[in-house]
Amino acid sequence: MKKKVLITGISGQDGSYLSEYLLKNNYEVYGIIRRNSIVEHQRNRIEKLDKQINLEYGDLLDTSSLDRIFKSVKPDEIYNLAAQSHVRISFEIPHFTLQTNGLGVLNMLEAFRAHSPNSKFYQASSSEMFGRSVDNDNCQRETTPFEPTSPYGCAKVLAFNLVKHYRFAYSLFCSNGILFNHESPRRGSNFVTNKVVKTAVQIKLGLKDKLILGNMDSYRDWGHSKDYVVAMNKILNHNQPDDFVISTGITRSVRDLCNYVFTKLDLEMKKYIFQDKKYMRPEELKYLKGDSSKARKLLNWKPQISFEELIDEMIDHWMDIFSSN
Ligand code: GDD
Repeated sequence: MKKKVLITGISGQDGSYLSEYLLKNNYEVYGIIRRNSIVEHQRNRIEKLDKQINLEYGDLLDTSSLDRIFKSVKPDEIYNLAAQSHVRISFEIPHFTLQTNGLGVLNMLEAFRAHSPNSKFYQASSSEMFGRSVDNDNCQRETTPFEPTSPYGCAKVLAFNLVKHYRFAYSLFCSNGILFNHESPRRGSNFVTNKVVKTAVQIKLGLKDKLILGNMDSYRDWGHSKDYVVAMNKILNHNQPDDFVISTGITRSVRDLCNYVFTKLDLEMKKYIFQDKKYMRPEELKYLKGDSSKARKLLNWKPQISFEELIDEMIDHWMDIFSSN
C-alpha cells in the first residue's frame, strides 16, 4: 500500500517540490490549501500535478477543518510547511504571523495527537530562530541558543518548542527541520534572491532601470529548495524523532549575491542598485551560516546544487519568461 502524506502549504515553493519528490517515491499526496479569490495565483506551482494530488480546503487557524481532514485522510506522514513566511512583513502583521506560525502549529499538533498519533510530523522550523546568536566558530547548529530578531522568528521558536514538547510529553514522532534559506525559480519575487535576479534580468532586457533594496550587508546561507525537501523526507524516515539543521555551510552577503547576478548579466551593478529604508527591518538578522554535520552524518544528506547553479537556473527562468513576451 502507498504511504499517505498530508502537506500544509502545498502550493508554496517547498510544498510543490516536496509533492513532486514524494509522488516520484510512490506516496499518495494530500494537500491543504486556503480559499483565495484568485485561484490561478494560488495553484500555479502545483498546476501540472493537479491530477496526481488531492487538495482539501482548510486553514491552520480553523480547527474544525483540521479535524475533518485528519479524520478523512489518516496520513502516515505530515509536513507542516504552511506559514506567513516573509520576515519583513511579519513586522507589519505581527499578530497574524504569531497566530499562523505559532498557534497554527499548536492546532496541527492537537489534530495530529487526537486523530493520527501513530503518524510522523515534520515542522518547518527556521534559521531565523537563531537571530543574534552565533557560536564562536561563526556557525549556527542544533545546540546554538535561539535569540530571534523578528515576530516571525519568535513565532517559529514557539512552534519549535511545542513540537519538542509534544515529542516528550506524548511520545509522538514529531521532528523539526531547522532550514536555512532555500531558493529556486519558484521563490516568491519579494524574497531577496528572486527579487535581485528577476529585476536584473528586466534591466538587462531594457524593461526596468533600477533595483531598490534594503540592507545589502546581511549574510545568508543559501541552498536550493529541491535539495532541502529531500532532507525533510529523510528527517521523517530517521529511526527516531529529532531536530536537524539543514544548510550548505557557505555564507554570502546580499551584496555578493548582487555582484554574482550583475556580473553574469554583464551589467555594472553600481549604476542600477539603490537602497530604500522601506525594505529595511526594525531589527536585522545580520549573519547566518549553518553547520549541518548532524544531518550529513545521521541522515546521509548533503546539498547537490551549488549557489552558482541555483542562481544560473533562476536567471535562465526569468530570461525565458521575459524574452518570450
Ligand atoms: N526580501 C528582501 N527584499 N530582502 C532584502 C531586500 C529586499 O529588497 N534587501 C535586502 N534584503 C535582505 C534582508 O534584509 C535579509 O537580510 C536578506 O536580504 C534575506 O531576506 P529574504 O530573502 O527576505 O529572506 P529571510 O532571510 O528574511 O527569510 C527567509 O529565510 C528564512 C530562513 O532563514 C524566508 O524564507 C523565511 O521564511 C525563512 O524561514
